[in-house]
Amino acid sequence: MEISNTTEQPPEESLAIVGACAPGHLLRSLPARATGVAGFSRGPLSLPSQLAAQRGFGNRFALCLPIFATFGDTPVYLSIPPDPRPGTIDFTTSDVAHTPLLTSPANAGGYYIPVKGISVSWHGVDATAQLPAGALDLDVRTGRGGVVLSTVTPYGTMRPDVFRAFARAFDDAITRGRIPMTTVERVPATKPFELCYRGGFPRVKVPWSWDVPRIILELGDGATRNWTVDNNNYVVEVGGALCVGILPVDGPGGPAMVIGGKQLENNLLVFDLEKQLLGFSGLLDTALTSCNRATFHRN
Ligand SMILES: *[C@@H]1O[C@H](CO)[C@@H](O)[C@H](O)[C@H]1NC(C)=O
Ligand SMILES: *[C@@H]1O[C@H](CO)[C@@H](O)[C@H](O)[C@H]1NC(C)=O
Repeated sequence: MEISNTTEQPPEESLAIVGACAPGHLLRSLPARATGVAGFSRGPLSLPSQLAAQRGFGNRFALCLPIFATFGDTPVYLSIPPDPRPGTIDFTTSDVAHTPLLTSPANAGGYYIPVKGISVSWHGVDATAQLPAGALDLDVRTGRGGVVLSTVTPYGTMRPDVFRAFARAFDDAITRGRIPMTTVERVPATKPFELCYRGGFPRVKVPWSWDVPRIILELGDGATRNWTVDNNNYVVEVGGALCVGILPVDGPGGPAMVIGGKQLENNLLVFDLEKQLLGFSGLLDTALTSCNRATFHRN
């Protein structure tokens, strides 16, 4: 496996990483051109755990899907237009919003965050999902519930009761928040999606996307900012309709919500497992930057 050490030139060096081979049929479901899977869990054999154990550079890594992962105390510099110079902001040390990370006894490798509520906001209209108190909480004894991150779940999921409350709030924000004299209507969903709309969603040019509601995951336990799911982190265009890339999924004893790949893309995540904190930039498109504009070299 080739891994870059960003503090020296040339940066390539080899590291011995324990892996396992699998018969072809087990790998058939991987995307085209993928040859294997790198685990990023809290488990001792995950890639970040093995690197941290070998190098002693701290149990810390950053993930910016679908472009890169960095390990240890590698700085991540992102240029933010109109400043064309790379390296103006070190996102791993500057004031990135962060939330505590929680662990579940039922899914010991998982990364949970303390979401307390869900709301939807559009053009000054706020609609809150009507959930019973504690509906999203992780039961630290049984491991039931909670909100977990997953890079192998392509679209986020919600337990059906949570999804129903969320869908009502989303619908409400659409109805009350749409621009006067325009129509936006709920249309039959295309599987696997459940919530789809058609009509007068304005275009936004910078970044190129749709003007659609923002989904806000309200964080507790000392998080410094709420987690906002913006347009490109959930909208999926299907046959002229805009669908919400979050799906109702039933799983007995499972999480209340899974934040999936669509929601994690182009969002710089900094996992600090020593402090049990997760830094998150929010959708980088809204800051007019992206994962592929990052540089890592200390000058
Ligand atoms: C990267 O390379 C430098 C120079 O060889 C070395 O001092 C440093 O320990 C290496 N860093 C890691 C994390 O291996
Ligand atoms: C998250 O949103 C809730 C509801 O709007 C608000 O009361 C709370 O202060 C926000 N939390 C942070 C950290 O901004």
